[in-house]
Amino acid sequence: MGIAVLTMKASIIEVLVVLLVTGIYSTNILTKKVKRPKFTVPRINCDVKAGKIINPEFMVKCPAGCQDPKYHVYGTGVYASYSSVCGAAVHSGVLDNSGGKILIRKVAGQSGYKGTYSNGVQSLSLPRWRESFIVSESKPQKGVTYPSTLTYSSSKNPAARADETTKDYEKSSIPATTTWPITLTQGPAIPVAEVTHRVLPKPFPFAATVTSSPRPHPMGLRSQEMGEMDVWKPGPALLDSGFVPKEELSTQSSEPVSQGDPNCKVDLSFLIDGSSSIGKRRFQIQKQFLADVVQALDIGPAGPLMGIVQYGDNPATQFNLKTHMNSQDLKTAIEKITQRGGLSNVGRAISFVTKNFFSKANGNRGGAPNVAVVMVDGWPTDKVEETARVARESGINIFFITIEGAAEKEKQYVLEPNFANKAVCRTNGFYSFNVQSWLSLHKTVQPLVKRVCDTDRLTCSKTCLNSADIGFVIDGSSSVGTGNFRTVLQFVANISKEFEISDTDTRIGAVQYTYEQRLEFGFDKHSTKTDVLSAIKRVGYWSGGTSTGAAIQYALEQLFKKSKPNKRKLMILITDGKSYDDVRIPAIAAHQKGVITYAIGVAWAAQDELEVIATHPARDHSFFVEEFDNLYKSVPRIIQNICTEFNSQPRN
Ligand SMILES: *[C@@H]1O[C@H](CO)[C@@H](O)[C@H](O)[C@H]1NC(C)=O
Repeated sequence: MGIAVLTMKASIIEVLVVLLVTGIYSTNILTKKVKRPKFTVPRINCDVKAGKIINPEFMVKCPAGCQDPKYHVYGTGVYASYSSVCGAAVHSGVLDNSGGKILIRKVAGQSGYKGTYSNGVQSLSLPRWRESFIVSESKPQKGVTYPSTLTYSSSKNPAARADETTKDYEKSSIPATTTWPITLTQGPAIPVAEVTHRVLPKPFPFAATVTSSPRPHPMGLRSQEMGEMDVWKPGPALLDSGFVPKEELSTQSSEPVSQGDPNCKVDLSFLIDGSSSIGKRRFQIQKQFLADVVQALDIGPAGPLMGIVQYGDNPATQFNLKTHMNSQDLKTAIEKITQRGGLSNVGRAISFVTKNFFSKANGNRGGAPNVAVVMVDGWPTDKVEETARVARESGINIFFITIEGAAEKEKQYVLEPNFANKAVCRTNGFYSFNVQSWLSLHKTVQPLVKRVCDTDRLTCSKTCLNSADIGFVIDGSSSVGTGNFRTVLQFVANISKEFEISDTDTRIGAVQYTYEQRLEFGFDKHSTKTDVLSAIKRVGYWSGGTSTGAAIQYALEQLFKKSKPNKRKLMILITDGKSYDDVRIPAIAAHQKGVITYAIGVAWAAQDELEVIATHPARDHSFFVEEFDNLYKSVPRIIQNICTEFNSQPRN
């Protein structure tokens, strides 16, 4: 019995020990995932931008060396979320160059950020950004729990914690597999049950019938399939718009064919959402919307032309620009479009359109602006930012129509937050529509048509060569001399030649100064390169003193005040001597007004003065040559620096 008791005791202890160990172990797992009793501050690198981090408030640890100018910072005190987190911390004085812990809080976007030089960091100005943040010392506030791991906007597989999913056609941002809608078992590492029941409950069976359908058939209002869709009654969108397919067919042949609205000569590509998750009803509403747009646009060879690309897993051209060249034919063709199904790979579709759609063979006219209107139900399943940038830079104006986008609770599932803002060239709302409900989509028809036809504003595609107002400020003082003045004009012409010049691209203006100043020509005077070059040639040498400060002030008032709001402003000042007046105050005024200033000095020009005039960092914006005959050597470097700077700044 004694032995038996002992053995029992031993095994009880054994069990207790096991329990204890597993208990500790499982608490560990639990606390790591959920409670974090011991808070560790996450580390980030100098280049991490606040916008990449989704958490609204967090503590981070910055490494040393974030003062480096390559980590761009925008704003002062309140920083655009496009800024380096740690760079902003140094700029604001919370951190020095040796790194450390800081506290970040996101705040609303602003309509302007002012760049200043502070604590060894030059921050830049930015007209507008969608989100800001402020930096403070890492004194955690009571009652606030800070995340010990940060959520980055590119984080994968949010559907794995899809408990809070509210919509019945939730999209997950899982990687694309073309076969996914049909063979779910090959899908990503999410339990199939979760995908079918929670993430994509409705569309799945439907997608299967679409993709395996033996013959394509129209799914219009008249379609026999409407019987099986008896849940659906035409919504207000359809009733309002008065779309009556039968009438449309009967009037088709009797009406004269329109040449199209000559006031709206654009080449248009509609990218329509054919993903499974959109469902049959919404797809039908989308088609109705297209038909309404086509009707309002008045398609024709002398007006707008339009083609359609449908995307799902992959995009496909339904018709190109010259397949149907009047509104009637196009509407009939739209009615026959069938849904492709699959994921919502918008980025892939944009890329496809950039490469394939706007070719001459597809009917692109060259002289008409290229416009792509992207329709998105909810949000894309892939990324759009980069592909949209490439599209814009190849000359395509992108509009985004987001219908029933992510609600606050759903934002965590979106692969690329603010995808629409990232895809369009400016975040001023002109290029994007946010439609609350499919049932109110019809209200977007008129505003969209109006904007798409506003060809003056379709200058979306920005490059360093086509997006600036460049003002030359030319020293005409006596010390220059007639011969050298000709060389200076050659130099001005050689720089100008590198740019794309027109009313809507780069514009050139010029001021000459001595003691006095005169406007040689303003930005709106000449709208072709030929005209600009001959105007430069005609500038007559003035001769006199050298008041460079007054000249800068004059250029701000007479040239740059008339610059267009969204244009980059570049001042290129050429001088051969020291100024008689103060340059510092006018130079600061120029910098504060967002005029990027290049100072080119020849012969007797004072280097320190050039550096004061030039935008910071001075080594990129000031140039000195010993002789006028060497001026030509700096042309390529100036162009290169202008483009490097352009490419390092956010587009908006
Ligand atoms: C301007 O370009 C011409 C032709 O390339 C070249 O011969 C000349 O030296 C250049 N002059 C200046 C000042 O850049």
